[in-house]
Amino acid sequence: MKDWTPDSWRDRPLVQQPRYDDPAAVEAVVERLSRLPPLVTSWEIENLKEQLAAAARGERFLLQGGDCAETFDDCRSDSIAAKLKILLQMSLVLVHGTRRPVTRIGRFAGQYAKPRSDDVETRGGVTLPAYRGDLVNGVEFTAEARRPDPERMLRGYERSALTLNFIRGLIDGGFADLHHPEYWQLGFVEHSPLAADYQRMVESISASVTFMETLAGRPIGQLDRVDFYTSHEALLLPYERAQTRRVPRRPGWYLLSTHLPWIGMRTADPEGAHVEFCRGLRNPVAVKVGPAMTGDALARLIERLDPDDEPGKLTLIHRFGAGEIAERLPRLIDAARATGRTVLWVCDPMHGNTETAAGGRKTRRFEAILAELEAAIEIHRAAGGVLGGVHIELTGEDVTECTGGARGLDDAGLGRAYRSFVDPRLNYEQALEMAMLVARRLALPQGEGVDSAAPAPAPKVASGRS
Ligand code: PEP
Ligand code: CO
Repeated sequence: MKDWTPDSWRDRPLVQQPRYDDPAAVEAVVERLSRLPPLVTSWEIENLKEQLAAAARGERFLLQGGDCAETFDDCRSDSIAAKLKILLQMSLVLVHGTRRPVTRIGRFAGQYAKPRSDDVETRGGVTLPAYRGDLVNGVEFTAEARRPDPERMLRGYERSALTLNFIRGLIDGGFADLHHPEYWQLGFVEHSPLAADYQRMVESISASVTFMETLAGRPIGQLDRVDFYTSHEALLLPYERAQTRRVPRRPGWYLLSTHLPWIGMRTADPEGAHVEFCRGLRNPVAVKVGPAMTGDALARLIERLDPDDEPGKLTLIHRFGAGEIAERLPRLIDAARATGRTVLWVCDPMHGNTETAAGGRKTRRFEAILAELEAAIEIHRAAGGVLGGVHIELTGEDVTECTGGARGLDDAGLGRAYRSFVDPRLNYEQALEMAMLVARRLALPQGEGVDSAAPAPAPKVASGRS
């Protein structure tokens, strides 16, 4: 890669970083981190890149999901297993609907750093540094917790390793075995009006597996395991730099903290440090595309991040909001196409649909999320392309952070189990419902259902602030 080194980002405008009070301590942590083993491997990264290339051609579908921010406290077996389960279940529903293989990518094992709209937060006349994720500081509103602490990079690396170790163990142990889909049931979804549909689908999968194995007279290979990949926002560059390495027998540099790093909306300046850092990686890279993105800026981003039109290299995750997608997306599709590159388009229907509920909590309406996804499917089709995946903030647990869904959670109900410190997530049941509704829409032939894909009205308090 021309004029690139793992440190060339240091000469570029760098935003969204904490102010550590002891730069020498940061360097010491980075030095320790750079001697620890990698979290992922280059061959997993190359496999994922091939899958993303297939998704860009419309032959696969990408499901990317997880918490807005993982927390160190949530590094627990139950919450990790619940996240795997919901992603697995959603992926089955999507395979069923799309008749395409699905690639599962978690927002996990490293999603610990957050961009913020303001550097500081003021409460009751006291101003402290904003919470930037557990990789940087603590969420508690005290001077001690909010002080950026470089040692947290080591704690984050360790938590990521613990999470990945458990995920790999579960998968190797047959957690995702298609012979036992009944293991994947979680209790409270039974109340959902879509539960019967889901149940029927699980039974039909079981019947198909049994049928195929009877026909073949032997177990069909690989049905007892599925792959999961990891992703996180590559935000805290000293941390990511420490895990950027060369590997034997492959050219170039790999970021080995995650399979798929993404560049957030607030750090997507084509001339900025984050784009410079990611441009030289061998990993596939994703970028968030928000309402302020111009066609020119997008073309420059594509030119910098995927100069060679490498299959699977670049994923664009658009996040406009249900009220804006129809106006903004078509022009950006044109701008990307004019570069001559093949990119993978994914819709994040969460971050453009954040609003403030009656009680002052940040929330998102299920209906707005669904409306943005449905509009995305139709707009890509109308442009002769394909929506290749979805990017969703969700949890495998029974939280109450987004309103709506089949059980009609309203603003007043948000207080029961609102647990996110950052953005509101779909709970287990809402996430599964979303997958079923999207799978249905993806299964429709082109052009059908266009009317009902009319975007929902813009949220009352469109904020996009985080
Ligand atoms: C996020 O994905 O949590 C996020 C902050 O998104 P965006 O950069 O699109 O605002
Ligand atoms: Co978020």
